[in-house]
Amino acid sequence: MPVVNRARFISLEGLEGAGKTSRLADLKAFLEGHGKTVLATREPGGTVLGERLRELLLAPDEGPMAPLTELLLMFAARNEHVTRLILPALDAGRWVLCDRYVDASYAYQGGGRNLGEAPVAILEGLLPARARPDLTLLLDLPVELGLARANRRSAADRFEQEAVTFHQRVRDAYLARARRHPQRYCVIDAAAGPDDVRLAIERAVERLL
Ligand code: TMP
Repeated sequence: MPVVNRARFISLEGLEGAGKTSRLADLKAFLEGHGKTVLATREPGGTVLGERLRELLLAPDEGPMAPLTELLLMFAARNEHVTRLILPALDAGRWVLCDRYVDASYAYQGGGRNLGEAPVAILEGLLPARARPDLTLLLDLPVELGLARANRRSAADRFEQEAVTFHQRVRDAYLARARRHPQRYCVIDAAAGPDDVRLAIERAVERLL
């Protein structure tokens, strides 16, 4: 198969309330309209074990968890996801759309929990080199707007319950990642209306088709 036609790996990132989940569904339909077969999945999660770890990680009543424990559980779920789902899908020619991936660990555990980049980079280095997204769409919006949207939607999970300053560190860390990896990242203004966001995503993805 010519390299240009290989299946692509796209991750969606953003703060709570950025609209990732709806835009991911739109993007899946867009790609299928272009004849691609698509696996839409999420982190933490995607596998049976990963979804169980997600429950532990998100449960608001789970109680305190050391930041490094949280990071290790994220990567435990991720390793299952990569080896059992993501790489087999890419090998089978399916495009992979992932609602959050490694950059979320840099943003939430590295930035939000103040662990810094080093422990995240060590764990990232254990993943197979080809488990790297071709494109990361960062749906960026002001923290207060995102949290207001997320709180309208459902009861707050363990991360949504965090203070505004936590989410500000998460946003700053995402934007720093985007500046560091400008070839891979596309930052999209998620404060815009859903149709504008959808079109911006389609424009960013078109160059991979
Ligand atoms: P969401 O996918 O519904 O937004 O929820 C997942 C939550 O998990 C979200 O608050 C971000 C958090 N998270 C991390 O803290 N680190 C990670 O590596 C990942 C994938 C998610």
